[in-house]
Amino acid sequence: MGILAKHKILETNATLLLIFSFLVVTIGGLVQIVPLFYLENTIEKVEGVRPYTPLELAGRDIYIREGCYVCHSQMIRPMRDEFERYGHYSLAAESMYDHPFQWGSKRTGPDLARVGERYSDEWHVDHLTDPQSVVPESIMPKYGFLSNRVIDGRYIRDTMATHRIVGVPYSDEMMEAAVADFRVQADPLGDSDGLLERYGKAAVRNFDGQPQLTEMDALIAYLQVLGTMVDFSTFTPDDSR
Ligand code: HEC
Repeated sequence: MGILAKHKILETNATLLLIFSFLVVTIGGLVQIVPLFYLENTIEKVEGVRPYTPLELAGRDIYIREGCYVCHSQMIRPMRDEFERYGHYSLAAESMYDHPFQWGSKRTGPDLARVGERYSDEWHVDHLTDPQSVVPESIMPKYGFLSNRVIDGRYIRDTMATHRIVGVPYSDEMMEAAVADFRVQADPLGDSDGLLERYGKAAVRNFDGQPQLTEMDALIAYLQVLGTMVDFSTFTPDDSR
């Protein structure tokens, strides 16, 4: 009996065809899924990606609280119109410490994945306080009240502990120094050596230009780090897998 004739047996017997189809789909599924159980991590580690500093983390919470993600995405797709406008496409590793991730699903405003260091801190203060003063046609709401909300980081260690539970590698030392690191990042006259030792590259300056530490400082510290952790002049994708 030729192979085609044998196949005819399968094709003309509904039950047999069903059983064999099920077998094929099962094997195919296992081949795709089982290896994932044996991988430590499906995200390729990329040099430069680090957990957020305490102040950036607080800024990120304000970003979520104010619903910025409703109008802004944080994911640059690997398509020409995207990377010519926003810069290098987003890497999975760049949001590995984001819980929950802020990819977003709607762009009423531009993508913010690489907005870090694109504008000055003063521009952000002006823009967040009154978007129409810098972009007259803007429909973004005003967030000037953030400049009046003084913060002291008293809950930041709890926030970091929560992020540690879901896998962000905050060390005991980082936890210990959380409040001090929180405050010193917006204080250019303070001793930020410890902060920089613990986190590596981080912007230390008075973000909102006021003497008090405010929610505006935290939000701008967060916006200014977005997309700046990886050095794309030396980055080469790992194609070995
Ligand atoms: C109702 C929608 C809306 C909300 C909510 C919103 N934005 Fe925007 N945003 C816009 C629009 C539209 C623009 C483009 C015009 C402009 O620059 O103001 C924009 C622009 C921006 C820019 C400049 C981006 C660039 O590349 O030029 C930043 C930064 C920004 N928004 C941050 C925020 C933050 C932070 C929040 C939350 C506190 C927020 N936005 C909330 C609509 C929104």
